[in-house]
Amino acid sequence: MREVIVAANWKMNTTPADAPGLARAIAAAIAEPEVVRVICPPAISLAAVAAALDGTGVAVGAQNVHAESAGAYTGEISASMLAGLATWAIVGHSERRRDQGETDELIGRKIVRCVEAGLRPILCVGEQLAEREAGHADRTVRGQVEAALAVALRAGPFPAGLVVAYEPVWAIGTGRTARGADAAEIAAVIRAAIGHVASVAAAEATPVLYGGSVTSTSAAEYLAEPAIDGAFVGGAGLKPDEMAAIVGRAALTARARRGA
Ligand code: PGA
Repeated sequence: MREVIVAANWKMNTTPADAPGLARAIAAAIAEPEVVRVICPPAISLAAVAAALDGTGVAVGAQNVHAESAGAYTGEISASMLAGLATWAIVGHSERRRDQGETDELIGRKIVRCVEAGLRPILCVGEQLAEREAGHADRTVRGQVEAALAVALRAGPFPAGLVVAYEPVWAIGTGRTARGADAAEIAAVIRAAIGHVASVAAAEATPVLYGGSVTSTSAAEYLAEPAIDGAFVGGAGLKPDEMAAIVGRAALTARARRGA
């Protein structure tokens, strides 16, 4: 039985002065222990947010890690630097693929660094609008998953604790959302890709989240799909009320899976 997970990606929002208070407010609103809950603040607020969330059951994630372990990379943050501050890390977010030119190969190396440092990676994948309209969404996502995992699998066994977030690029920050059935279809593509490069057991064990304009209104559509194991939330992840409703809906799914 796969975990049900809700992760909030705060992106480049909040300051170290206001991040701990917001984290505490969200943690108080999402006290649902059946759901794995993660907040990913900006790197500069990781320490303050980790302290604020101590004892709440809400985990801390980094929004990025560097692909190398250490060295002459001015301004960068390695996976090992995050130890003690975060237990999760986002890799390959579409905004970084777009703005920093991150490739599947680089993202694969970031997964390796996460595993070495004991961080659970959230691998983000998703197609552009033109790719979906051309009928190539499945091919794009399969390629992203297989290419990143091929790099990770050359370095070691299947990455422990890996989570994949399917985020169609055209749905991020736009208010446009995929239909639940489309998201479930791509979740199946992701699991087929994992099965192809690793094993069916690894594919079945890997949680797949949906992300892209998820709100309290749209969350149920995804969380009702057996192939979807939670939500990856951007804009709504800064709002305690929205997070409360999304995690509340996720808790229903978690309880239904347990047969409770
Ligand atoms: P959004 O962002 O929920 O604001 O669309 C999602 C994401 O990019 O993680």
